[in-house]
Amino acid sequence: MNQPTRPLFAANWKMHKGPVETAGFVREFSALHPAREDATVVFFPPALSFTAFREAAADRPDLELGVQDVHTEQSGAHTGAISAAMAAEAGAEWGLAGHSERRREFGDDDATVARKLARLLEAGLQPVLCVGETREEREAGVLAEVLARQLSVAARDLDDAARRRLVYAYEPVWAIGTGLTAEPADAAEAHAIVRREIARHADGATAESARILYGGSVKPDNIEVLLAAPGVDGVLVGGASLDPEGFAGICAAGKA
Ligand code: PGA
Repeated sequence: MNQPTRPLFAANWKMHKGPVETAGFVREFSALHPAREDATVVFFPPALSFTAFREAAADRPDLELGVQDVHTEQSGAHTGAISAAMAAEAGAEWGLAGHSERRREFGDDDATVARKLARLLEAGLQPVLCVGETREEREAGVLAEVLARQLSVAARDLDDAARRRLVYAYEPVWAIGTGLTAEPADAAEAHAIVRREIARHADGATAESARILYGGSVKPDNIEVLLAAPGVDGVLVGGASLDPEGFAGICAAGKA
């Protein structure tokens, strides 16, 4: 679960790996990655692969499971959608909200993201709120404004206890799936902005202890520098998490 002092390595598989591939990955990854006391590892496979993941990881309670997306409602006539409660019942402990692919492809705006966060919290899942600017926004110099807006709308209706529970992922949209990675200094700057905004909505202690992940073309060869950047508490990895060896390399980073 969420323990801010340990680096968090999260794998967002997106629309990759059905049950068969998931089981194969978990077997291979488990052999390559011994459990670490000093880190948290979370997988976000497609929900259809949850059972395969849990069966293959039955003897690896250190490999945690999360859901990539949930509906804004608790239940109802929403063909094709899944609820946060269902995801929890199926073994998820974590849930993403606000991923830029959901925002862009499925029209999730900040208000939608706020409702999804509420559903995740109600279901007892640990939410990871994703924020980040597009290339145009970065070039226009509005990074801080964009992050502030995304964070304030998402946190608007949450109480203090809920705010303390959130984990954040700073994911510059221009770095996702592009092979472009934020420089460690840029990541540090954005993480500092996120932390400042958390302090405005919650309080200084919550902001200081909040876990903020970096995401966007994280790979085995850039993980160490990114993880060493000030304020980076872990990573959310897409493409490079699909390969067991590569992701095991990433999850070995930052050892004392
Ligand atoms: P990427 O994806 O590592 O493939 O850039 C990151 C993400 O979308 O979370």
